[in-house]
Amino acid sequence: MILTAHNISKVYQDSHRTITVLDGADLEVKKGELISITGQSGCGKSTLLHILGLLDDSDSGTISIEGMQVNSRHPDAPFIRNSKIGFVFQFHYLVEDLTAAENVALPLLIAGKNIAAAQEEAREILSRLGLQDRVSHFPNQLSGGEQQRVALARALANKPSIVLADEPTGNLDPANSLEVWKLMRQLNEELGQTFVVVTHDRELAKLADKSYELSLGKLTLL
Ligand SMILES: Nc1ncnc2c1ncn2[C@@H]1O[C@H](COP(=O)(O)OP(=O)(O)OP(=O)(O)O)[C@@H](O)[C@H]1O
Ligand SMILES: [Mg+2]
Repeated sequence: MILTAHNISKVYQDSHRTITVLDGADLEVKKGELISITGQSGCGKSTLLHILGLLDDSDSGTISIEGMQVNSRHPDAPFIRNSKIGFVFQFHYLVEDLTAAENVALPLLIAGKNIAAAQEEAREILSRLGLQDRVSHFPNQLSGGEQQRVALARALANKPSIVLADEPTGNLDPANSLEVWKLMRQLNEELGQTFVVVTHDRELAKLADKSYELSLGKLTLL
């Protein structure tokens, strides 16, 4: 099992009320699976993905990555986040002052690669995603679909065990959304890349091997 989440709960407390977002969510992801998670806006999909990606902590429950129980405060969490998990954010969060290739090279540099090797690998990954003519563009010179593909390339840079993608096609038109999904499917089939993809689009979610729905804080298999 690449990722196991057991009995995950998360409550947000603001000044006058308590919101229970996750209430005992369970998930198991095997190597080579492409899993989708759907659910209404505000149901807690991003919260769950951030917890799975060790970007936030749950109030209770456990997360294991490749058999090791971890949370965001674990001493190995920074290493695991950079080398084992690829995260595609709901809003791509590319660094605006860096080119596409530099954005993709960033996690490789953090992992200790030298600049020349990192840039070369970044170009290769971008080419694989059909962006060979966009490597020197800055994010604001790219279309929304291209920006999301660069974000996907960045998530793939360190050959992670699992890619967690939060609405990677949320801001794209139907044709571009399908393109990005086909790309993930292809990476899954050709490289065996494991994915957990959050989407509000039930039709796209069906392209996954397994689809879960997040509702009332729990995940159920559709
Ligand atoms: N830091 C926070 N403090 C308080 N409440 C929060 C916080 N972050 C999220 N929430 C609330 O938790 C709930 C779940 O938010 P989350 O972003 O996980 O939803 P989502 O399913 O990803 O929604 P969307 O589909 O719109 O992206 C929402 O009601 C949100 O307002
Ligand atoms: Mg969200």
